[in-house]
Amino acid sequence: MTVPDNFMSAEEARKAMEKDPNLTLVDQAQDPSISHGPPMSSIKDELVRADRMYGEALGYAHEFMDAVRQGQPFHFKDATPLVSGFIDSVFRNESAAAAISKLKSFDHYTYTHCINVSILAVILGKKLGYSRKKLQEIGMAGMFHDVGKAVIPDTILNKPGKLNKKEMNVMRTHPLRGFEILKAQQEIPDAVLRAALEHHERHDGSGYPRGLKGDEISDISRLLAVVDVYDALTSKRVYKDPLPPSKVLGMMYKWRVTEFSPNIVEEFIKSLGVYPVGSFVQLSNGNHGVVVDNDTTDPLRPTVKVVYDAAMRQLPVQEICLAASDLTITEVVNPDDHKIKVYRLI
Ligand SMILES: [Fe+2]
Repeated sequence: MTVPDNFMSAEEARKAMEKDPNLTLVDQAQDPSISHGPPMSSIKDELVRADRMYGEALGYAHEFMDAVRQGQPFHFKDATPLVSGFIDSVFRNESAAAAISKLKSFDHYTYTHCINVSILAVILGKKLGYSRKKLQEIGMAGMFHDVGKAVIPDTILNKPGKLNKKEMNVMRTHPLRGFEILKAQQEIPDAVLRAALEHHERHDGSGYPRGLKGDEISDISRLLAVVDVYDALTSKRVYKDPLPPSKVLGMMYKWRVTEFSPNIVEEFIKSLGVYPVGSFVQLSNGNHGVVVDNDTTDPLRPTVKVVYDAAMRQLPVQEICLAASDLTITEVVNPDDHKIKVYRLI
């Protein structure tokens, strides 16, 4: 996927969304037991739990990817309680679950990506109204979607530059390789197999490996395509810095018609908020802060913890709910440009 030079801003994305109010999704398996009420746990409390959960999942990701790399079978079912923990976390406070993957800097993208995609897929699946049983399948599919990358040579996987055509062709074998690896284990459900094979297929048929279109692609694969792109662009890689989440959401909004299922990007933006928790922003008075909550009626006016002034000098910490203030967000700032660890500010 190529990244356009001129990003659509989050503001532009929001305006475009307002002109396109027909956002109702069809074919949802609504589960009446699923609550869509206020979070059951504060973001601070949930971040502590999500942090522990993330650490455990990271250990498992190392285990199964390393086993595959050595041609060994892995313990597929060990992922079940981990994914169940992701779902519980998302239901307690989904902003915390979404933020955890973006708030800490990790070096090993191959491992963190499986976990991030699994968590984000559960968040989007919940927004789409899927049942808890289906969310478990979605989370498992997210965890194993990129297992084929374990057998791609490291020189290609972590090349600190653009891949040439030959290298790109090798990289593009990972969906089929992943499908074959999982199929050889026999106990893997069809939904997980299809997700490994189809997560790079695109709505307009421009994806790979088979150039499938629209609903020829499974519903879970279509969902994973969205969160996979989001996590790839917001993560640090050997060849690029992470992009701010709100910028990436704006870019994906631009691509939504060709790349993704109708309305799915809009639902993803609605579930994360225009400024996802953890976004580092500048306000209209020049001060800087971090978005700590976006559970307000106005997605453009989240709650911001103000920490620095316009010149990045430390201020007494103050939490401002923008929905009840005259201040607005004027810019999303990349915290890496100021060597700031956003995680420590929440
Ligand atoms: Fe992939």
